[in-house]
Amino acid sequence: MVSGKGGTGKTTVATALAVALAEGGRRVLLLEVEGRQGIAQLFGLESIPYEQTHVAVAPHGGDVYALSVDPEAAMLEYLRMFYNIKRGGTALKKVGAIDFATTIAPGLRDVLVTGKAGESVRRRNRSGDLEWDAVVMDAPPTGRITRFLNVNDEVKDLARMGPIKNQAESVMRVIKSPETAIHLVSILEEMPVQETLDGIAELEVQGLPIGAVFVNMLQEETLPEQFITDGTGLGAEQVSAGLEAAGLAATPGLVASLQQEASDHRSRVLLQRAERERLDAAPVPLIDLPYLPSGVDLRGIAHLARTIREQAPRGRR
Ligand SMILES: Nc1ncnc2c1ncn2[C@@H]1O[C@H](COP(=O)(O)OP(=O)(O)O)[C@@H](O)[C@H]1O
Ligand SMILES: [Mg+2]
Repeated sequence: MVSGKGGTGKTTVATALAVALAEGGRRVLLLEVEGRQGIAQLFGLESIPYEQTHVAVAPHGGDVYALSVDPEAAMLEYLRMFYNIKRGGTALKKVGAIDFATTIAPGLRDVLVTGKAGESVRRRNRSGDLEWDAVVMDAPPTGRITRFLNVNDEVKDLARMGPIKNQAESVMRVIKSPETAIHLVSILEEMPVQETLDGIAELEVQGLPIGAVFVNMLQEETLPEQFITDGTGLGAEQVSAGLEAAGLAATPGLVASLQQEASDHRSRVLLQRAERERLDAAPVPLIDLPYLPSGVDLRGIAHLARTIREQAPRGRR
């Protein structure tokens, strides 16, 4: 499960993680659950249906399939599986009953989505092997993750017996098992780091299995340490000398804007270091991911996947 504050790179990291896990001939399913079609966008597709779609090949022959979990389709699947309702399901859909049900009971949406994920994790193919070597979910944001994951606990108390109770219990078993890891994506800024620390504390209290924190969009430190620590700023003469050495004209405008850039970079580096310290104190492994200046394209995803593999804890590769 990949959660995190919105905009910190959840979808990007979930996708890179799926590619990393697929490397070397494994089959990985990547689940999108909020209907944003962010994964489709990354792969240049219009949309990904509620049906596994091959989206990427990993180095040394692994495959990533993606699927967008649509609560309505999940509900019809559910009715078919447990109550053998087929025609009825279509009729329900026609009168808008499913829309109605998922609207008045927002928790139902989460039951259906986590149920689909649980089912994917346990599914076996014809030869009796697990269908997927790993299932990665681009999960709801940190603010919603605990409720989202615990929804089945509430359901199993409501439904005293029968298929719904069994289903809810088995989904909860998958979520709380050591096979599951809830990863959080953060960037080194005050609010996202705070949200990550709060998220870790909350997941811990609930006994939910925390994985790693992916520290995304790390800016490389490009200036000499002395400039960062003593903070006197980069002098105009120094910048001019550098420009001249590079064969460029040191116009006053260019020199001034480079000085400004250097000063911004210094602030950024100091902020990163301070926020990093706060994360270091948390009881979870950190995985660093660089800021990709040219944006996240397929090569960028491959690069992030490699970076994840290099840092994966031993025994989890
Ligand atoms: N490591 C990175 N380097 C550069 N840009 C990134 C990186 N990770 C994410 N982004 C960009 O940041 C934006 C938000 O990322 P996204 O994965 O969609 O976040 P979320 O799913 O959390 O909303 C996107 O434009 C994405 O391309
Ligand atoms: Mg997203």
